[in-house]
Amino acid sequence: MAAGRERWASRIGLVLAMAGNAVGLGNFLRFPGQVASNGGGAFMIPYFVCFLLMGIPLMWLEWGMGRYGGVRGHGSTPGMFQLMWRHPIAKYVGVLGLFIPTVILFYYSCIASWTLGYAVLSATGHLPQVPEVETQLPPEEVQRRVLQPFDDFLKDYVGQSKSREGSVLLLQPPVLTYVFFWVVVALNFWVLARGVARGIEVLAKIAMPLLFLLAITLVVRVLTLGEPVAAGQSPWAGMNFIWEPKWWIERDGELRFVLLDPKTWLAAAGQIFFTLSLGMGAIQCYASYLREDDDVMLTGLSTTSANEFCEVVLGSSIAIPAAVTFFGVVATQEIAARGTFYLGFTSMPAIFSYMHGGQYLACLWFLLLFFAAFTSTVAMAQPLLAFLQDEFRIPRVNAVAFLTIIWVVFSHLCLFLNHAWQVMDYWSGTFGPPLMALVEVVIMMWIFGGWRMWNEIHKGAELRAPIFFYYAARYVTPVILLLIFAGMIYDQVRALLSGGGETGLEGMPAGSPGVWITRVALLIFLAGLLWLIGWAFSLDHHKERIEGAAS
Ligand code: ALA
Repeated sequence: MAAGRERWASRIGLVLAMAGNAVGLGNFLRFPGQVASNGGGAFMIPYFVCFLLMGIPLMWLEWGMGRYGGVRGHGSTPGMFQLMWRHPIAKYVGVLGLFIPTVILFYYSCIASWTLGYAVLSATGHLPQVPEVETQLPPEEVQRRVLQPFDDFLKDYVGQSKSREGSVLLLQPPVLTYVFFWVVVALNFWVLARGVARGIEVLAKIAMPLLFLLAITLVVRVLTLGEPVAAGQSPWAGMNFIWEPKWWIERDGELRFVLLDPKTWLAAAGQIFFTLSLGMGAIQCYASYLREDDDVMLTGLSTTSANEFCEVVLGSSIAIPAAVTFFGVVATQEIAARGTFYLGFTSMPAIFSYMHGGQYLACLWFLLLFFAAFTSTVAMAQPLLAFLQDEFRIPRVNAVAFLTIIWVVFSHLCLFLNHAWQVMDYWSGTFGPPLMALVEVVIMMWIFGGWRMWNEIHKGAELRAPIFFYYAARYVTPVILLLIFAGMIYDQVRALLSGGGETGLEGMPAGSPGVWITRVALLIFLAGLLWLIGWAFSLDHHKERIEGAAS
């Protein structure tokens, strides 16, 4: 057992921290958007198939790997991979578990700061109000005019409107946006510097119950809206819209059967990764603070279920039903198609401004998003901190200071460079997790050994998994991951061969200087991490530990 590593103070704290790790913007913004634009109830079929065949097995495996590494003194994937695969390259492959969560941290913290800023602006009555619109206009026109001021406000807030007039390269956010970013950095710094039990666990014990309370309050408010605008436009019509299976949807100008369209499956798999924080290195890192005989099976399943409750039950019952109530089904479809941000930052404040006490309800909505994001930012920061502490033996506060410097530099790209955060999101949020998951599942189930890993996750277990999950993890999960990968690459190649049009790999304008600068910055960051790994593992104390652990 590695001496001196921190531990979770209580089981409830661990469950809440892990749930906080997983529950994030993915649950309340990304999920409803995905469901609405991928066939409604029909999307839930690939979603649950991916959850069962990939989400649950990977969750258990990541918990098992984390605990295995943690008791041997490694809280991040370079050390864990090295322990499970005795090959000199293994530690370098583990860079994925540092690169992915830290890059997510770079942009996710900016988005978290927008939610906090919006919460304060709503509470103080500084968000726009719905304009007077002639109701005899067609509903789409009404919706467009109503949403316009909120859309403009968001563009101003993130600095896009000014950049349109001037530079396409730079964003010019107002000072307030910048101030809230620093508030979020300071809050994270404080929690992280206090450590795992005194910082992250305490935060989770406060933020998670609050998050549930806020979400349930908003669900109740939305579901009791009635039909304030027109007959037939109610939250229940919204629930119907989100849950009724639409087997045929229009995509890329063609009518497609949703279950046979690879894009639906890619969307479902991507959502499972993102929402459960799988393939990021973040679950392993939290699990590394477990004791050797702490249960991972029942606890892992409990946090997974908590996440699914927040996503499928709560996440689907707020934004979309509210939008259908005020704008109708057709307009909501358009809103969902315009993406997660449009739904959360444009449509929701407009909806609240129709309601009694709307500014306070809007504040609750943005606070909900903020708590969800805050508990995930600390989780994304932790793997690099664990790496610095475990492999370099740097004191925690120094490690936090080092991370914060890098983080602030890269977040400045997201704040001031057009398209930077979207490029980061593509590589770390879409492309990275399935790649990381494929690598780790092969290391655990094929190199380390399938039965060995199966026994490892059952140590101290309060629940035995059906043997079905062994075969799923060993054979089915890697095949699905390979297919996902092949699908993503096929999509990219097809786009390139067909002329690629205006969009590049990341879905952003191909020739945009912001895209190129961000790609280069990410490559430099990756190279820096590889160099740090090489350096750390050449230190004397480290060699002794790896050799000791092998015996
Ligand atoms: N799992 C986190 C989320 O859903 C990253 O936002």
